[in-house]
Amino acid sequence: MPVTIRRATIEDMLCMQNANLNNLPENYLFKYYMYHILSWPEASFVATTTDDVGGPADATLEELAACCEGPVSATKGDPCYVRSGEKLVGYVLAKMNDDPSQPSEALTGHITSLSVMRTYRRMGVAEKLMRQALFALSEVYRAEQVSLHVRQSNRAALHLYRDTLEFEVLKVEKSYYQDGEDAYAMKKTLDTEALQPANFQRGAEQDDLDSDLLEDLVREGVAEVEA
Ligand SMILES: CC(C)(COP(=O)(O)OP(=O)(O)OC[C@H]1O[C@@H](n2cnc3c(N)ncnc32)[C@H](O)[C@@H]1OP(=O)(O)O)[C@@H](O)C(=O)NCCC(=O)NCCS
Repeated sequence: MPVTIRRATIEDMLCMQNANLNNLPENYLFKYYMYHILSWPEASFVATTTDDVGGPADATLEELAACCEGPVSATKGDPCYVRSGEKLVGYVLAKMNDDPSQPSEALTGHITSLSVMRTYRRMGVAEKLMRQALFALSEVYRAEQVSLHVRQSNRAALHLYRDTLEFEVLKVEKSYYQDGEDAYAMKKTLDTEALQPANFQRGAEQDDLDSDLLEDLVREGVAEVEA
């Protein structure tokens, strides 16, 4: 099931909002997505796939419901699909810090929201989205660090941020969320070189046939000398 990570565009915003509504209690007005994409057009990314159903026009009601994880009607404007055949399965919405109440000497990026549709989780999609966003914030917007908040109870996200991506917990912000839950405020220092996407491509390390060959030759040579 190939999943593509690419930069988010205006065309993706409805699908991003739909994924956000499906996956998180923190929701935003459409204009807030617009603000991100128009102000920092290279900071946000989406994960899409073209597998299984061929798009809203070809999908059965069951397929659409499975893709959106909720009841839907088989309309052409299905919010899971960016365009016919391309389904959004995850997104990361990122920006630079522009909050005057949070002044910082270092240029600071911010992860506003991240989510992956349930059936596409535990495949490394969120990690890839995050690594792309961190690299873009650093390379394009010269961010020296990046911040985010995560619910204390969100084990999956905490594992991703703290253990996989090596964010540090700065402090606990009491009752940060509307329902009263506390948040961990997290931060990561960015290093553009270390964040190069090529450093994280799986399968980059391939069987080194040359050295196998060399070992064989050496073995043969030793055998000849011994003979
Ligand atoms: C959190 C979330 C984005 C993770 O997405 P994902 O694509 O499944 O994550 P990945 O597959 O990239 O996993 C990244 C790491 O987190 C770990 N992880 C993912 N889900 C996990 C879980 N439920 N419990 C423990 N660890 C988990 C993975 O094992 C992986 O660790 P590794 O690097 O040691 O292998 C996804 O669960 C989600 O969308 N949740 C709902 C929305 C949300 O909570 N967003 C974050 C708000 S701050």
